[in-house]
Formats: sequence, structure tokens, C-alpha cells
Amino acid sequence: MSFPSLAGKTVAVTGATGGIGFAMASRFAQEGASVILGGRNESKLKDALHKIQAVKPWPKLGTPPQHHALHIDVRQLSGWNNLVDRHQIDVLVNCAGESQKSLLVRIGEPAVENMIQCNLLSAIWGCRAVGKQMIPRREGCIINVSSLLAHRAAIGTSIYAATKAGQLGLTTALSQELGTYGIRVNAIVPGYIETDMTQGLRKDDLTAKIPLKRFGTADEVADAAAFLAKNAYANNCILNLDGGLSAV
Ligand SMILES: NC(=O)c1ccc[n+]([C@@H]2O[C@H](COP(=O)([O-])OP(=O)(O)OC[C@H]3O[C@@H](n4cnc5c(N)ncnc54)[C@H](OP(=O)(O)O)[C@@H]3O)[C@@H](O)[C@H]2O)c1
Repeated sequence: MSFPSLAGKTVAVTGATGGIGFAMASRFAQEGASVILGGRNESKLKDALHKIQAVKPWPKLGTPPQHHALHIDVRQLSGWNNLVDRHQIDVLVNCAGESQKSLLVRIGEPAVENMIQCNLLSAIWGCRAVGKQMIPRREGCIINVSSLLAHRAAIGTSIYAATKAGQLGLTTALSQELGTYGIRVNAIVPGYIETDMTQGLRKDDLTAKIPLKRFGTADEVADAAAFLAKNAYANNCILNLDGGLSAV
């Protein structure tokens, strides 16, 4: 099913207290959707909800959107069950994630497990819980936020890269399993985006390799999410957004 307009739809975004997730939540609110902001930090969530409630939707709406904050640790199945018990979701964006900056042999076992749970198991739980909820309605859209490192892993990113590649496998399998029910499953594959996650990287060296000679913005990623949510034929659409870095 297509959502040419997102007005009146309910969009859940995890990692909504972070750079890309918050930009997506803002964009969906501008498009007239009611947004469920998923986050694990109460004070950040409160702040994000306050800002989203101030967003003015573009379309003139009879009923104003109702935004909500949802406390969720995406690693825990209970948080996902809570989401679907409380809300009927039209679009799910799996955006929560953590990064890695060390060699595999130097990482402790709990940190390895945490990264897999946070970046991959979370998306599996989310797709499963929300997919089950969407099947009887025969419509919906799920967007997984992967990474260019899924294809172009670098030293110090082994587990992160494996989880982001796993998200792409998940997306492709589910675009078929859920696609037969009219539920579209897509992924965004960002390169380097200006957020807290990329603070501290050697920006000059990286920028020099990017054909467009800059990092992307969170708003540019949010624009891709709006496209995927609205386009009726986007299913297994694996959307690179990397300034051309995937080409070099
Ligand atoms: N920035 C980039 O260059 C880039 C490139 C490719 C892909 N990505 C992907 O884009 C997504 C968003 O990244 P970002 O750049 O916006 O990073 P960010 O600003 O650090 O935001 C990450 C978000 O994920 C949340 N989160 C982490 N673990 C969680 C958990 N267990 N339960 C619930 N929420 C959790 C964080 O919550 P707290 O605020 O509580 O920590 C935060 O809201 C990530 O999946 C990342 O891998 C980013």
C-alpha cells in the first residue's frame, strides 16, 4: 500500500532522541503523521517530544496529530510488545543504534553481545512485532537504517558492519515475506552523516574521499525515509545516501 500522504498515519521511530532519528521524527510530524518517539533516556525523550509537539504540519489537518514518547530499550522484546499493545503502527523506522571503534580482539564479550542486540536483534524484534500487527491490515512500511559499512567495512568496525549487513539481509527476506501482505520493507544505507555518532572521526581525511566533499545531514536522511514511506512501489529499496562514497 502507498501512503501518498502521511497525514493521519502513525509512525514509530526508534533512536528518536539521536541525530538522524530526531530529524526523521520532525519530518514525519511536518508531513502530518502522529509520531511515536522511541528512546531509552527519559529526559532526552521529554525534550524531543516537546520539540516535536511544536512542529507545524504542512497539510491542513482536521484533527491535529498526537505525538507520544515511548520508553523503549530496543534490545528487549518487552519494549516492542509494549509498543504494539499501545499503538497501531503504519510506519516503523528502526533507527536506534550504537557504533564501534575498536578491534574485535580487544572487545569484551558483553560489548559484542550488546552491539548485536542493539543494532540487529532490535530490528528483528521490531520487524516481527510490528509486522505481525500490520499483516491483518494488509498495509504498512518498515524502514531499517543500515550503514555503508555493511558493504565497506573498515578496521575497528567488525561487529557494527556485521549487524548492519544483517539488517540488509533482514530487509530483503522480509520484503518478500511481508510484501505478499502489502507491507513494504526497505533500508537506508547512509554514509557519513553529521551527528553525535560521527563526532571525533578524522573528518578531513574522510571528506576528501567523498565525491561531494562533505558529510550528509540528518535532514537529508529523513528526506529519504519520507520517500520510502510514501512511495507505493518501494519494497526492498536499499537506498544509498553517501554523497557518492559507495562509488569510489
Ligand atoms: N551518523 C552516521 O554517520 C551514520 C551512518 C550510517 C548509519 N547510521 C545509523 O543511523 C542510526 C542513527 O544514528 P545517529 O547518527 O543518529 O546516532 P546518535 O545521534 O548517536 O543516535 C543514536 C540513537 O540510538 C539510541 N539508542 C542506542 N541504543 C539504544 C537502545 N538500546 N535502546 C534504545 N535506543 C537506543 C540512542 O539513544 P540515547 O540517546 O539514549 O543514547 C540515540 O537516540 C544508527 O542506527 C546508526 O548506526 C549513522
